[in-house]
Amino acid sequence: MHSAIFQAISSSLQRHRALWQISPFECHDLPWRDDFPGLAQGLERLNEAEIAHLVQDEAAAQSWFAQYVELIDTSSLNWLSKPRQAIEPPFWLLNGVKGRKSEQIAAFAAQLPRSVTHWLEWCAGKGHLGRVAQYHTQQPITSIEWQSTLCHHGQAMADQLRCQQQFVQADVLNDNLSHLFNEAKGVMALHACGQLHLELLEQARQHQIEHIFVCPCCYHLISDSAYLGLSEQAKAVGLTLSKRDLKLPLQQLVTSGQRGRRQRETELLWRLSFSQYVQLLTGESQYTPLPNFAKALLNQDYEAFCRWACQAKGYAFNARLMSDSLVRGQGQLALVNTIELVRQRFRRLLELWLVLDRVCFLEEAGYQVSLMAFCDFSVTPRNLLIKAQLAPLNT
Ligand SMILES: C[S@@+](CC[C@H](N)C(=O)[O-])C[C@H]1O[C@@H](n2cnc3c(N)ncnc32)[C@H](O)[C@@H]1O
Repeated sequence: MHSAIFQAISSSLQRHRALWQISPFECHDLPWRDDFPGLAQGLERLNEAEIAHLVQDEAAAQSWFAQYVELIDTSSLNWLSKPRQAIEPPFWLLNGVKGRKSEQIAAFAAQLPRSVTHWLEWCAGKGHLGRVAQYHTQQPITSIEWQSTLCHHGQAMADQLRCQQQFVQADVLNDNLSHLFNEAKGVMALHACGQLHLELLEQARQHQIEHIFVCPCCYHLISDSAYLGLSEQAKAVGLTLSKRDLKLPLQQLVTSGQRGRRQRETELLWRLSFSQYVQLLTGESQYTPLPNFAKALLNQDYEAFCRWACQAKGYAFNARLMSDSLVRGQGQLALVNTIELVRQRFRRLLELWLVLDRVCFLEEAGYQVSLMAFCDFSVTPRNLLIKAQLAPLNT
């Protein structure tokens, strides 16, 4: 049972919620300064280069942070199960599937027991996982996917390879799929986004599906505006999570090279500076969000960006506010970076909480559940796999 670790993570998150459940863009100072004075002083002793180093180096940041705040140590997660070694599917089975995706698939498929007589693959895309799972288990599989082009593509590949894989085009959030659940003995989902995998867990529980294999992702893509938890234990904790909070686990630094990093920094600076521009123009003090834009705009200058932003938000352009807003934006950027440096220390903890909530939900429904990192973090940061088996009834 995972209740104890779930409760321990819950209280660690609760105790420190001022450090992570915040919107850095809205802050004018360290919002938790009075509650964590040692941490605030520690941050202020860091120069810009040291902060930049900690932003890049996860392990260094974690040990720097541990001097000031004691978090539950999840690095020694001996409650995680050991995954089976990835299978080695023949090359023709994953023709055209990119390296990391095929590694994930081979690692996921290895965890599936061969004894389960009919599988359902949820939100299958082109059904690459289903195809490999069928090859590995030699059991029939039904792959559900919403987009018809992906269904046709996947079905054509399966037919060509004489794979017992049948695609069904359906909307898993709105269509009645009971007939498919009645047939299935096991379900699997690789990287089905928020509401999609929550729906699968609900339906699998309702239909008493014996085997469940789910690797969740995109926790923020849910139909409600906030998340209260799926399990009774999570609901009792009362950790109401906004979509912004739910995005935190996905915000790990993408190693996209120096150019990508510079571009992200420019975008952040200009967005913050434009918000300062609006504040100078109107006297309002809240952050002004901007819509997405073509990244080519970042190759121009701040003035071009500001002209575009004024048009997008319906403000007059005033060239005299350019330099002041940019200077104030730079100050705001330094503050955002320090607040984020702290906030990011809760990324994995929050993800574990979210995944353990799903684990507890299944345990509350009578499943025996194990959790594992089914592949290396470098293959995909969303590498946690929930494996559940319906416990036999005591008669
Ligand atoms: C992130 S992809 C994962 C695909 C595949 N499992 C993989 O790992 O490559 C999510 C898939 O869910 C499908 N999807 C989104 N909403 C859906 C819905 N309401 N019903 C069925 N499928 C849906 C998308 O079309 C997409 O193929």
